[in-house]
Amino acid sequence: MRLSTTLASTRVGDVHIHETFQVIELDAGHQVEETKLSSAAVDGSYTVPFSHQAIHAIEKELAIIVPCKDEDVSILDGVLHGIPHDCLIILLSNSKPGNYAAERAHLMDYCTASQRSSIAAHQHDAGIAQAFIAAGMPQIVTDNRHTPHIRNGKGEAMIIGVVLAKLVGKRFVGFVDADNLVAGSVHEYCKVYAAGLHYALHCDKQDDGVRAMVRIKWNSKPKVQDGEIVFEKSGRSSRVVNHWMNRLLNVLDNHCGQTDMIQTGNAGEHAMSIDYALELKFATGYAVEPYQLIDTWERLAGSVAIDNPRVAEPRHTLALNYTLKAADLDNEAHNSSDESTAADSSPPSTTSTPASSRRPSLLPCPSPCPPAPSRKVRILQIQTRNPHFHDTGKGADHISKMQAEGLSTIYHSRFAPETLKSELRHYVQANLAGVAGVSEDGELAVPRIYPAIGTLDFAVFRSVLKARSVALQIVGEDAGAVLL
Ligand code: GDP
Ligand code: CO
Repeated sequence: MRLSTTLASTRVGDVHIHETFQVIELDAGHQVEETKLSSAAVDGSYTVPFSHQAIHAIEKELAIIVPCKDEDVSILDGVLHGIPHDCLIILLSNSKPGNYAAERAHLMDYCTASQRSSIAAHQHDAGIAQAFIAAGMPQIVTDNRHTPHIRNGKGEAMIIGVVLAKLVGKRFVGFVDADNLVAGSVHEYCKVYAAGLHYALHCDKQDDGVRAMVRIKWNSKPKVQDGEIVFEKSGRSSRVVNHWMNRLLNVLDNHCGQTDMIQTGNAGEHAMSIDYALELKFATGYAVEPYQLIDTWERLAGSVAIDNPRVAEPRHTLALNYTLKAADLDNEAHNSSDESTAADSSPPSTTSTPASSRRPSLLPCPSPCPPAPSRKVRILQIQTRNPHFHDTGKGADHISKMQAEGLSTIYHSRFAPETLKSELRHYVQANLAGVAGVSEDGELAVPRIYPAIGTLDFAVFRSVLKARSVALQIVGEDAGAVLL
């Protein structure tokens, strides 16, 4: 693979987000003996070839998690066939029992025939729910009155997938949707993950311990209109979420950045170092991908001079990268942690922390500070060659729900200035009236946010899972390590 890279990036505290890279060649050829991360500049940009060895080294340590909810099994089958051989496949299904049986059978047959490893699990499996409760994350479990099970939602499936990848010992996790109609594009996404992760980890020799994330910007999202295929450059939900995410970024980087830096706010297809996946807080459902950016900024943006008397947080004293005015932080007044506004109104025993009730993570450092490990996160956005052909028949309600969930993460960010919130509220009122989680005045429900996955006790999780090993279908020794 060869990528065109640019030096343009936006830095907010320890978070570096690069302007979108492009795939130049799907395969950079055999002559690439060693990946050179700083090859010759062409028109101010650089093209970087990645050797097969460099890609392979990441793939061996990469688990690809496939969340699936009642997708056509023949389409899922194509997705599975697109995932490079050395990646571990983790299918996380929330499908109806009959559909799940078919999905699992396809996965097991395919992996047995091609001698590769995989794990299949169902989101509502009681053993998995018990493992989460025992290991310290009861918030993700619901329905204690009957059989406990993990809440519905894509974000929730992704959390389970990350835990399984961690138990198997993988260093990286990537996600691909199960409704992708083109196996070749899934293959390209995975190659982009490997090339991007390699680049992010090695492009700066001083970046010891950097955490990496790669977010895919698909080339286009085709739709059929009047019998013709139209290759739309942006999706309906992405367009909206990216716009508001860029508005927020503009506040964070003190209006120095571009207005379109974020092109992957909703990126369902993304990959990251597992260390980072364990640090991140995952949000429920379709809020999960936009919230990754919000959470990253909230934890690592650096400290903010808080002059707002209504904010009951100590003033931060570390080096400032930017300063927000008191009025800009008005939104802290919103921190009412009203669980009744959370998208899913479940019993209090299983509720989680709403985004806006969490304390800012950067508190004054006791003096003298111990040497801190690198906190740097490098986020790449990479545009693929393949279009993203997926199931477009999920309806307008699906798009609206996705928008509302995505926008709620921005609206409730503690960095969102009151002016931005007010404009966003008007937008929501005008465009998303009647959607779940949207009130009459355009107020968005607080998204459900889970504790960082790294807070789980993995030894306990494993032993509960082992006792309930029916929860998992496993092919391959590599995958079997989940229960060792
Ligand atoms: P879109 O492509 O952004 O419109 O989102 P999709 O509806 O296609 O969802 C992305 C992926 O997540 C698909 O593979 C879905 O089947 C899957 N998905 C959606 N909701 C759930 C869920 O509750 N659990 C699981 N396991 N997968 C889900
Ligand atoms: Co889809």
